[in-house]
Amino acid sequence: MEKKLMETFQKLYGGEGEIKTFFSPGRVNLIGEHTDYNGGHVFPCALTLGTYGIARKREDRKLRFYSANFEKLGVIETSLDDLVPSKAAQWTNYPKGVIWAFEKKGYSIPQGMDVLIYGTIPNGSGLSSSASLEVLIGVMLKELFNIEISMQDIALIGQYSENNYNGCNCGIMDQFAVAMGKKDCAVFLDTNTLQYEYASVKLDDAKIVITNSKVKHSLVDSAYNDRRRESEEALHDLQKVVDIKTLGDLTEEEFEAHKDAIKDEICKKRAKHAVYENQRTIRAVKALKENDIAEFGRLMNQSHISLRDDYEVSCEEIDVLVDLAWKIDGVIGSRITGGGFGGCTVSIVKNDAVDTFIDQVGAGYKEKTGREAEFYVVEIGDGARVL
Ligand code: GLA
Repeated sequence: MEKKLMETFQKLYGGEGEIKTFFSPGRVNLIGEHTDYNGGHVFPCALTLGTYGIARKREDRKLRFYSANFEKLGVIETSLDDLVPSKAAQWTNYPKGVIWAFEKKGYSIPQGMDVLIYGTIPNGSGLSSSASLEVLIGVMLKELFNIEISMQDIALIGQYSENNYNGCNCGIMDQFAVAMGKKDCAVFLDTNTLQYEYASVKLDDAKIVITNSKVKHSLVDSAYNDRRRESEEALHDLQKVVDIKTLGDLTEEEFEAHKDAIKDEICKKRAKHAVYENQRTIRAVKALKENDIAEFGRLMNQSHISLRDDYEVSCEEIDVLVDLAWKIDGVIGSRITGGGFGGCTVSIVKNDAVDTFIDQVGAGYKEKTGREAEFYVVEIGDGARVL
């Protein structure tokens, strides 16, 4: 793969000078959904699927980008003096946003670059191809321009660029998982303090199976922002009666005692999810550490129900996938993963049930929705790095 990409790089850009190769993973979140902008915990892991990048510094201020996934677009050329988002820039709005954000945060990028990228994360699947690309570019800039910056700060810059250059109001989970991921581990991150620890997810007799619904409903961005607003409104109401900074500060009992302060019923449901999901995530990690995988799975299932009924970010197709999964012997847990309204489910499936899972969920999904699901039996890999 890397050899072929290197040949394409040479063919496209020719020339001399040191060329470096990079990889940045996608992510899947095991539990802790829509908690990252509510001051709660998340538990994602980096995948071995991800984005490859090859780059070389230029002597001038030109930026040239090429994606082997979008061959038809050819080389997209721009410059360090044109870091403004535009439709015409297509996917290069992500790398440009990261360069813009580095400069905004005081890191100087004095020269341009020639860049080739190739991603193995299925398009629009909700496995964080954009965070993967952002962090890839961050590592590239660090390496090519000898910038002293931590991986955590690269993650924060990625999020900053997505929020302020690309206009998506995401939390920190995706960029953090992509930057800080570790083989065979998930990252237990407190999004309030950014304190984190790794928890081993080396499952001897089970696999992580991602099922792609191949559906992406168009309300994704607007509904995501609505959920954020509703959570904030609930927090605002609660703060009149209890001294908290985020919904993540509350236990379930505290929430139940004060919930009537939330005036709007919808906002109350959103807050309930945020509080319960955060506590579920803490409990799930504890269960995993105690080798109680059955409890971990049970909490994953509850997470789905809460995302479906209280946070309302699931959709018909995803519920079909989860319902089918729950019926299969050997499925330890199954839930929607990521932002929602389509995308993927994540399931933990006993080794000897994986084939049945793929057959039965695939056939049932086709029968009920007319669609073909895609399955990835994934490995947990390391975070973004120079190869
Ligand atoms: C998207 C966002 C994340 C997070 C999830 C939901 O992936 O980018 O920050 O909010 O949705 O858990």
